[in-house]
Amino acid sequence: MPHSKIDTTSAKPQTAQVIIVDDEEALRVSLSQWLDLSGYTICVHADAISALEDITPDFAGVILTDVKMPKLDGIAFTKSVLAIDRDIPVILMTGHGDVPMAVEAMKSGAYDFVEKPFEPNDILESLERAIEKRKLVIENRALRTQIAQQGTLDSRLIGNSPSMRALKAEIANIAPTEVPVLVSGETGTGKELVARAIHDLSTRNDRRFVAVNCAAIPESTAESELFGHEKGAFTGATNRRIGWIEHADNGTLFLDELSSMPLALQAKLLRVIEQREIVRLGSNTPVKVNFRLICATNEDLPTAVADKRFREDLLFRINTFELQIAPLRQRKDDLPLLFDIFAERAAENFDRPYEKPPAKLWGGLLAHEWSGNVRELKNLAERYVLLTGNAEERWARLFGNSIGNGAADPADKTGSLADQLRHFEQHIIRDALTRHNGNVKTVMDELDIPRRTLNEKMKKLNIRRDTIEER
Ligand SMILES: Nc1ncnc2c1ncn2[C@@H]1O[C@H](COP(=O)(O)OP(=O)(O)OP(=O)(O)O)[C@@H](O)[C@H]1O
Ligand SMILES: [Mg+2]
Repeated sequence: MPHSKIDTTSAKPQTAQVIIVDDEEALRVSLSQWLDLSGYTICVHADAISALEDITPDFAGVILTDVKMPKLDGIAFTKSVLAIDRDIPVILMTGHGDVPMAVEAMKSGAYDFVEKPFEPNDILESLERAIEKRKLVIENRALRTQIAQQGTLDSRLIGNSPSMRALKAEIANIAPTEVPVLVSGETGTGKELVARAIHDLSTRNDRRFVAVNCAAIPESTAESELFGHEKGAFTGATNRRIGWIEHADNGTLFLDELSSMPLALQAKLLRVIEQREIVRLGSNTPVKVNFRLICATNEDLPTAVADKRFREDLLFRINTFELQIAPLRQRKDDLPLLFDIFAERAAENFDRPYEKPPAKLWGGLLAHEWSGNVRELKNLAERYVLLTGNAEERWARLFGNSIGNGAADPADKTGSLADQLRHFEQHIIRDALTRHNGNVKTVMDELDIPRRTLNEKMKKLNIRRDTIEER
């Protein structure tokens, strides 16, 4: 029986796939030769049951099937295919007198039928239409998934700055794959949030996400925590314990603050990653484990390698794909949005009123250093909601007495008061113009100053609209 398998993941997505099912060998051969010459990727089956094994919901092609066949006939086969995916086009090849039956089959969802005997050219048009239809269905689905994922990501990872948008696009791209990901970023930038988002957008999202903070497990118990132990493995091991890695089987293993892991344990971890099996303490039997690895670090790992605190071979195993989250001070455009959303959520949680602080106060956010990144911002937004007093008073308690607490840039906290103020004003106006793509009217509204004042200030502070960065 001629039987070639379709590789649905193969690198030839342009050539449309056709599965031919017929118990008559002569027909299989002639049809497949002809379709092969026409540029299709062909897979032939002598019976419907074996054909079903090749059909998955993402099958990107079309099925041509005989009706009268032993084991499973073409009608029942069509029903099974449509149960897998009701949008797979099935074209029936009917024998003489089978037409009424084929018409019935079409009512229940078959795409078309052709009466035997036929010339290959007779089915070409129907086949091409069916292939086109299938292509559209697959494309639409991919698009819908992408949009849904974008929506999920946008509601979870707040921020529209160019670097946040790029990060979200990278997450959507990498999540469905199995590659190990290294997430790096300063404290509070959202590394764990990103790791969870990757898991939730992956095919493992119905399985566990196991987060292990490598800095928080004591060295003495780390091995047993990670790999587990058998009853009696050591004094006090009264029961078998399944370790974190085994716990993540079929799911995602998130190793946080990885650089804190002792070197000896790093060697053991490397072996687990390479061999995909663990051995519980007190046991000699390896246990297979299948996990997607995501690691996070707030330290530069190449530096840790240079300092001989981190194994280079381990680094190469985990950094197949690296996602770097920019610190908040490098994406200041995100500050107002983050503050506003966190404050709104806090207000809802604490059942407190919240009104967006007046625009003239926002400069305080920009001037702050944000060494604690988003975590610090979230905390301040929550405190803002809980504090009493008017907006200015609350703001002053959070950010100091004046708007912005001095100069805009921490590096510029020198010079006369007039110089610092000038610098700060320049920064606020530039920032507002950048955020609003140079739209003076919006900037006037936001900063609550008349056009003349804004024009004068821009002239005095040497700010030209055409020098504002395009975003
Ligand atoms: N872009 C964002 N949108 C919404 N919330 C965010 C964002 N980034 C971070 N957060 C929130 O900030 C807090 C800190 O994030 P997370 O714990 O993921 O940071 P981290 O990088 O793992 O920090 P650490 O290095 O200290 O462990 C969390 O409450 C998280 O939900
Ligand atoms: Mg963290």
